[in-house]
Amino acid sequence: MAIDPSAVDLAVELAGLRLANPLLSASGTFGYGLEFGALTRLEHFGGLVTKGLSLEPLVGNPPPRIAETRGGMLNSIGLQNIGIEAFVRDVLPGLADYPAQVIVNLFGYSRDEYARLAERVDGLPGIAAIELNVSCPNVKRGGIQFGHDPDQLSALVAAVRPTTSKPIIVKLSPNVTSPVELGLAAKDAGADILSAINTVVGMAIDSRTRRPLLATVKGGLSGPAIKPIALRIVFDVARGVGLPVMAIGGVESVDDVLEFVLAGASAVQVGTALFRRPDTVEQLVEGLRQRLAGDGVRSVRELVGGVELGGSPP
Ligand SMILES: Cc1cc2nc3c(=O)[nH]c(=O)nc-3n(C[C@H](O)[C@H](O)[C@H](O)COP(=O)(O)O)c2cc1C
Repeated sequence: MAIDPSAVDLAVELAGLRLANPLLSASGTFGYGLEFGALTRLEHFGGLVTKGLSLEPLVGNPPPRIAETRGGMLNSIGLQNIGIEAFVRDVLPGLADYPAQVIVNLFGYSRDEYARLAERVDGLPGIAAIELNVSCPNVKRGGIQFGHDPDQLSALVAAVRPTTSKPIIVKLSPNVTSPVELGLAAKDAGADILSAINTVVGMAIDSRTRRPLLATVKGGLSGPAIKPIALRIVFDVARGVGLPVMAIGGVESVDDVLEFVLAGASAVQVGTALFRRPDTVEQLVEGLRQRLAGDGVRSVRELVGGVELGGSPP
């Protein structure tokens, strides 16, 4: 039976990270947040995940580094960013004007660099959690090497854990045989939350010029094309690891959000959809409220992991 939309509770909590609603921007698809203030109402976001930040500013890979594909896009940005100090000095104070929880996405070339980044932001009250990018397919060293090997990932999380009291989110790669194995390694080393997935390694060629569309030849596929892959990984990881999960991958609609929640996600990040419609998160928050009200669901938390498998669980 339908209920009043104002009676729907969208708040979620993941390992002590409280979000007013389960929708966040995904790293690298929404800059540092403030740039989009004129295009959407940032106050509607449950959380903002920053572009990946490193100790020093990075220029990223050479262009072309974005290519549209059917149902998605390939990118090879290569973690271009302003560096942690410029973020803390120039961006973070402005984000304090919004209720959205700020999550910094961190990237380093060594365990020590990740630990120094986490330590740098530990005392800053404007930052609610850190997300470790161990799964970027677009850099030659660092990042991905940690996210593809359980021992390396475990050592990385163990190095970061003592430097911060903030929740640690480990962002999983889809480009491995067993994301659950990586998730378990992260959990055992002290991670609090998992986010899944980063982009799927892909490639595109222009048949007329016979050249790859990206200067780096290969890149990371994102958008609706990867949603079924993300859904499978979120489902497996939520059941197989036992940490709260933030889902990422091709989310565009309220149905997409609900599918990820039913698969086991407590929150959902939106990435590529923001390129076409920067107000996607704002629309989804309102749409989710209306949908749950229509379905008579009082709290989104009731639906987490609620997929009905009938008599044939996998
Ligand atoms: C242009 C672009 C830049 C990205 N940069 C980052 C990044 O800096 N750090 C990171 O962890 N993920 C990065 N990602 C991955 C996204 O956060 C997200 O995991 C992925 O795009 C899948 O979600 P989507 O299909 O909703 O875009 C980037 C994705 C895109 C498209």
